[in-house]
Amino acid sequence: MADLNGPFVSRILILDCGSQFTQLIARRVREAHVYCEIHPPTRSLEWIRAWNPSGIILSGGPSSVTDDGAPAFEKGILELAPILGVCYGMQWIAHAEGGAVVAGGGREYGRADVQVVEPAGLFAGFDAGEKTIVWMSHGDHVEAPPPGYIVTARSDRVIAGFRHQSKPIHAIQFHSEVAHTVRGPEIIQNFLFGVCGCAPDWTPGHFIDIEVAKIRALVGDRHVICGLSGGVDSSVAAALVHKAIGDQLTCIFVDTGLLRLHEREQVERTMGRHLGIKLVTVRAEDRFLGALAGVRDPETKRKIIGHTFIDVFEEAAAREGQGAEFLVQGTLYPDVIESVSAKGGPSATIKTHHNVGGLKPDMAFTLIEPLRELFKDEVRNVGRELGLPEEMVGRHPFPGPGLAIRVLGEVDYESVETLRQADAIYLEEIRAAGLYDAIWQAFAVFLPVRSVGVMGDGRTYENVVALRAVTSTDGMTADWFAFPQDVLGRISNRIINEVRGVNRVVYDISSKPPATIEWE
Ligand code: XMP
Repeated sequence: MADLNGPFVSRILILDCGSQFTQLIARRVREAHVYCEIHPPTRSLEWIRAWNPSGIILSGGPSSVTDDGAPAFEKGILELAPILGVCYGMQWIAHAEGGAVVAGGGREYGRADVQVVEPAGLFAGFDAGEKTIVWMSHGDHVEAPPPGYIVTARSDRVIAGFRHQSKPIHAIQFHSEVAHTVRGPEIIQNFLFGVCGCAPDWTPGHFIDIEVAKIRALVGDRHVICGLSGGVDSSVAAALVHKAIGDQLTCIFVDTGLLRLHEREQVERTMGRHLGIKLVTVRAEDRFLGALAGVRDPETKRKIIGHTFIDVFEEAAAREGQGAEFLVQGTLYPDVIESVSAKGGPSATIKTHHNVGGLKPDMAFTLIEPLRELFKDEVRNVGRELGLPEEMVGRHPFPGPGLAIRVLGEVDYESVETLRQADAIYLEEIRAAGLYDAIWQAFAVFLPVRSVGVMGDGRTYENVVALRAVTSTDGMTADWFAFPQDVLGRISNRIINEVRGVNRVVYDISSKPPATIEWE
């Protein structure tokens, strides 16, 4: 059987010195099909040796190498495995090895031209003297490489890259991991495959095999329960666990009455009939809408939905779960990465989960989180490999509290139904225009205001629907999506004509920040 703790031949360790781009480094490495993890810079040499990296990447960070408390490594790290220092990582190597690091002076932020001095190592495949566009973001810089190191690239203002003459220690001042660095992926791949000799063995199929073996070993012949939300993460997690243990898994799908049009039917069709997963649907529309009656405050609405969800789920689990000892959750890697403060102290920042989180302490489940090492795009690929249909795998994110936080203020059956119809038309037209995948999230919002209109020869006084569509990579920041005018026109026309009670459609052109993606 595979070694379940270290199943991948190649493993890159990323030590996070606090850069906002560290997650992007991990993504680029994973995109090259090499397994990697992000850890705090305080990991000891013994810990790193035991982790057994094929290569180590020292990330960027906001500190100066001479600051009190700036991330610092034991020098022996440079002997443990091939090293790539990025920005702060480069400055630390220079400082540790006796080069000159200067504060200020050569500041560069944003686009810069870098000239390749040595077309080998990180720059294999480039031409000598070639200029390439990169993204810089540094205040300090390396003025002179340490003894034994040679310059591999320069910008107009600073040394942009160096390497050790004989050891596999490489460094770059710019951020190869950001999209604006035109040949960034090649530079990272040169490190992974050329310098470290990694094998591209991090593939969805391989991941599935390993997780299936792990889950089987953990669960034995016991029972497992899973709350399905209809979203990508819980669906993929459930499909994976089902592949491992079949009918020992029971999935519970709660219809809160706050779902998108035909969502319940889609989950029943795909997860139940298509994949053959044992699925229990709980119809709790009245219970949720009853609990929300008369409540206007957004936070109170969220709390009520969260509590009601837990009650309904726990009742169903007790009734249908066959004494399950395990609970599947679709936690992803960004939720569990230990983020590190600029002062180098590791601190775990874990996002609260709004979906099946917060079960009562007497529901003593052991958690199974098979996706906790994956980014969203990797989850999608695993889902495809498991045979989930594209409409489910490629779906926009949908919040746990559902349409209730898109009906502003008080929620009742009629407003949710109106919103559901408008939302379905909106998404249908977005798909028809071929724009669905270009948008991170698109949805309609029901506004609790009425405005005057005219239909036929009569005056109307009806509701307003707002449309929101944003681009984003992680939901943390977002920009409004610039629809072609004719698409917006068609959507507005259809909603006003086909959805009773709506006579006005507006489009939201706010970015996040300062607005959020959802309206509540
Ligand atoms: P905001 O509105 O904070 O949303 O900009 C960022 C992303 O998070 C989603 N979201 C939620 N997801 N439960 C969830 O599972 C929630 O309570 C919740 N609130 C917001 C939102 O849809 C967007 O993708």
